[in-house]
Amino acid sequence: LDGDGRRVFDLVAQDGEREFVPGLSTPTRGFNGDHLGPTLRARQGERVAVRVRNDLDEVTTVHWHGMRLPAAMDGTPHQAIEPGETWEPTWTVDQPAATLWYHPHPHGETEKQVYQGLAGLFLVDDPEEAALDLPREYGVDDIPLVVRDVRLDGQGRLDRESRNPMGVLGDTVLVNGTAGPYLEVEDERVRLRLLNASTARVYDFGFADDRGFALVGTDGGLLAAPHRTTRVRLSPGERAEIVVDLVAGESTVLRSTPPDLGTGDAMTGRVGGRDTLDILEIRAAGDLRPAPPLPDTLADIPPPDPAESVTTREFVLSGRQINGGSMDMSRVDEVVVRDTAETWVVRNDHNQPHNFHVHDVRFRVLDLDGDPPPPPLSGWKDTVYVPPGGEVRLLIRFGPHTDPEVPYMYHCHLLLHEDLGMMGQFLVV
Ligand code: C2O
Ligand code: CU
Ligand code: CU
Repeated sequence: LDGDGRRVFDLVAQDGEREFVPGLSTPTRGFNGDHLGPTLRARQGERVAVRVRNDLDEVTTVHWHGMRLPAAMDGTPHQAIEPGETWEPTWTVDQPAATLWYHPHPHGETEKQVYQGLAGLFLVDDPEEAALDLPREYGVDDIPLVVRDVRLDGQGRLDRESRNPMGVLGDTVLVNGTAGPYLEVEDERVRLRLLNASTARVYDFGFADDRGFALVGTDGGLLAAPHRTTRVRLSPGERAEIVVDLVAGESTVLRSTPPDLGTGDAMTGRVGGRDTLDILEIRAAGDLRPAPPLPDTLADIPPPDPAESVTTREFVLSGRQINGGSMDMSRVDEVVVRDTAETWVVRNDHNQPHNFHVHDVRFRVLDLDGDPPPPPLSGWKDTVYVPPGGEVRLLIRFGPHTDPEVPYMYHCHLLLHEDLGMMGQFLVV
């Protein structure tokens, strides 16, 4: 905390080196280290200040994905940090407990910099969440899992050349920067905070033995109630908090199986739709600390009320464009009014998979191809998968922050698509 009671974080974007394959090192990038960045953590209501220094030899930015904050603090291409410069955003955390993250967002270079390793988690805490019987001892029974895939060449170096039109599809999964990881736990119940930090791959997380688990949270915070399931699909940028029970002395493997992408066509393979990948081996100790049962209810999430919506806007995804246009930093595409709710209809008019992310807000899914959202889409979201030919309707409340000049972004979070222009800008006034 500084003299003004603000929680201060220092981040330095820097070049690094890492051995993903023992004995073979590759250039990487990270915050405050060789790869990825520290988990930042703050409480609802707390004022935070971050000093972001750019020690790279090129422009970067740091965007707080999922955070409600003034547009000038959002870390978009409009807040570029030149090499050697420091940027100091500050804001008050004004949202419920959630697993958020941060990553660069420089114009046209986001996919490259995230792929090189620039990403980290930003956890928000609140008193309601803290009062629930949920595992929350960081690194002990509450485990952050930043999952991304990379392609390594014969020398063990990060390869970005072999891309398909969706981006790089890796042959190696890294969890918190480690290939082939395992985790030893001593609690009978653990919470896994999953972030899909891949630039293109879609995962369908579950366990090799098909054991059930409870999905307790999604992008913007806790669900209304735990949802018992065996699989959770995450497209790039999405998060899930799951709670799983372990058996003393036994191992289980967190595994991604081919995700249901709503398409049977050739594009499926391009975002990993045919791959089975082991993510993390979890080894339970012979003696496990008992845990209380999960609560029946988690958060108060009223059903979304479409009647709140004052405007409906359409966003058609096609090619590498939204509504027939490519990202133009000097063009504002939409202007919305603070403290109003709108319906955003996002349609994928393309034969390729895309998703859709909106800055500054947490939204609710009203329906998916006319059907009510399944439980994993029933809570607060900021990124949603949109299958080829699919249409999703979102209810979004904007504000309270306004800025007549500095826009926020919405875009496909397959980062190559974002870089190629599948992004637009909106003002909140
Ligand atoms: Cu994580 Cu504009 O994105
Ligand atoms: Cu974002
Ligand atoms: Cu896309």
